[in-house]
Amino acid sequence: MKHKDFVDTGNFTKKELMDIIRLSLQLKRCVKAGYYPPLLAHKTLGMIFQQASTRTRVSFETAMEQLGGHAQYLAPGQIQLGGHETIEDTSRVLSRLCDILMARVERHKTIMDLAENATIPVINGMSDYNHPTQEMGDICTMMEHLPPGKRLEECKVVFVGDATQVCASLMFITTKLGMSFVQFGPKGFQLRPEHLAIGEKNCRESGGSCLITENEEQALKDADFVYTDVWYGLYEAELSKEERMKIFYPKYQVDEAMMKKAAPWAKFMHCLPATRGEEVTDQVIDSPCSIVFDQAENRLTAMRGLLVYFLSLREKTPQPGNIEKESRELEGLLKELK
Ligand code: CP
Repeated sequence: MKHKDFVDTGNFTKKELMDIIRLSLQLKRCVKAGYYPPLLAHKTLGMIFQQASTRTRVSFETAMEQLGGHAQYLAPGQIQLGGHETIEDTSRVLSRLCDILMARVERHKTIMDLAENATIPVINGMSDYNHPTQEMGDICTMMEHLPPGKRLEECKVVFVGDATQVCASLMFITTKLGMSFVQFGPKGFQLRPEHLAIGEKNCRESGGSCLITENEEQALKDADFVYTDVWYGLYEAELSKEERMKIFYPKYQVDEAMMKKAAPWAKFMHCLPATRGEEVTDQVIDSPCSIVFDQAENRLTAMRGLLVYFLSLREKTPQPGNIEKESRELEGLLKELK
């Protein structure tokens, strides 16, 4: 095991990522069969949230509970982080009190600082740069919805719209896994050159491909998965609804006509929450080709896999002799205290 933290999928090899995906899907099968392996017994996850969350928060907490552990929700204003205590000190303190941390942060630097100063694993629950746990759940979902006869590496994923951190993350993982990635989005709202450099490096290593285009026919042709996200993401400037609509609507709204331009078996994906009527129509998100709620469920699938990978597989083997010695001494002390 080389890596302490899960801040960026770029720090992991294709094999390592696929090992975690396979572990996640295996654990999902266990839980669906009614078996909850207690792999996280006595483990505590500290969950720092600087922003609101439904899927990330609930999936981490449920995953810990299902596998015998416990999660603590550390909401904005409820811990000292952001007050007069530094990130470094918060990180050191929580490392003494918890077994693993996750954080959803406003700025990527915060998660980097947390990870650098923690002595326990730190998982990135989304920053303004990336959303790696979303990526892992999304690959689980694609694995469950592969077109007949196709391998993951043979699939084309098209992201439609604004280059949010989900778009960047989707590009990072699909190119790392050797898939074909396209962003279909307007100039000014496309992945940045520094993102693209990472994707291109991944493609050279994995055999995948990466393209940014404003050409709808080229983007959608033979697409196996059509993915979108909200029209306000990576960029500093908050756009009003009118401004967003002017830039993206109607060209970048995923509607039935756009889905018809993809492969006949294409699935629609969205990280959620969706702004219905903006980036996607009700007709598409509620259609049989939509797998958005499988994606939401697979956030939990991926969290189980990630938590077990970082906590249980990293765990040093307990020394039975030590446990017996400690327990004998504890019993002796308790007798003295009676
Ligand atoms: N997709 C996602 O991260 O959802 P939440 O913001 O609800 O966690």
